[in-house]
Amino acid sequence: MSIDRIVNTTIDETPQNDEQLLEVTLRPKRFAEYIGQERLKANLQLAIEAARRRGEPVDHVLLYGPPGLGKTTMATVIANEMGANIRVTAGPAIERAGDLASILTNLQDGDILFIDEIHRLRRTVEEVLYAAMEDFKLDIVIGKGPGARSVRLDLPKFTVIGATTRTGALAAPLRDRFGIMHRLEFYTPSEIEQIICRAASILSVQIDRTAAASLATRARLTPRIANRLLKRVRDYADVNGDGIIDHPIAHSALNLLEIDELGLDPADRSLLEAIIENYNGGPVGVETLAALTGDERSTIEDFYEPYLMQIGFLERTPRGRKVTHKAYKHLKRTPIQMDDAAQKTLL
Ligand code: ADE
Repeated sequence: MSIDRIVNTTIDETPQNDEQLLEVTLRPKRFAEYIGQERLKANLQLAIEAARRRGEPVDHVLLYGPPGLGKTTMATVIANEMGANIRVTAGPAIERAGDLASILTNLQDGDILFIDEIHRLRRTVEEVLYAAMEDFKLDIVIGKGPGARSVRLDLPKFTVIGATTRTGALAAPLRDRFGIMHRLEFYTPSEIEQIICRAASILSVQIDRTAAASLATRARLTPRIANRLLKRVRDYADVNGDGIIDHPIAHSALNLLEIDELGLDPADRSLLEAIIENYNGGPVGVETLAALTGDERSTIEDFYEPYLMQIGFLERTPRGRKVTHKAYKHLKRTPIQMDDAAQKTLL
């Protein structure tokens, strides 16, 4: 198997819109092109090299962390580095154990099965998966009633790469089947700036350093958001200028999008304002917060909170979420001091 070949990817969900197509186009294909996540790359490179020397597939890998940090990208990089085929699917797409059986029996030795949102697999599917991961066997029941019999099929030696926003939501037996588990971290502003410059060069967009830096500070330390902002600002530059992104163009485009200098958009600000207005800054339970903003609890936990906590605007306490002084300052608000009795009436 040639390791220089770029993988043959089988994707259940092909890009549905421009945004997804852009993400796929800009995705780095090898470790050498992948900016950031240095510790993760070093660990994975070691595991891949060791597996290659032994002529075995890599151990199953679980990648976790907030959305947009590159879990899918990292899975395709691993496949490319291994010279392996990758089959891409997602937890909710595998409805029955039979669907998983069909995916597994169609794999070949060395293939990678990437399962996004693996925490959303159904329990019955999950059970088939961890047996298959453990000893590459698939137990299927043929027939019904007293005549039913169980058959054990051999499966190829494959690698599962699972991605999840939360490891806590994964059943322990499944979690235990992953030999390699890593959290993807937020990127540094300088890494995001490099990612923007790389994307601009692939898209043949001219952007100057100050504009790239300004976009980078507003991208929530997240490559997916950085690339989306670049695309929006490119639209603005094409319509209102000569297509070149300089600082004034970037500034006007970002103001039009209502994204402030820390990357907060109107939804983030109204989440913080809701806690301030209704609960004097908190603490407030996440369920109450979800009811207040009209969002799903998982949207708050997976999309809003990680970045707000990363920049020190929100704290998780045993009694609920609390807005910090730093956030008050950013929103140009003054905390109201309340005695304990007054605070209790808010809870
Ligand atoms: N595009 C999206 N994520 C990237 C990364 N980590 N490195 C380079 N380009 C990217």
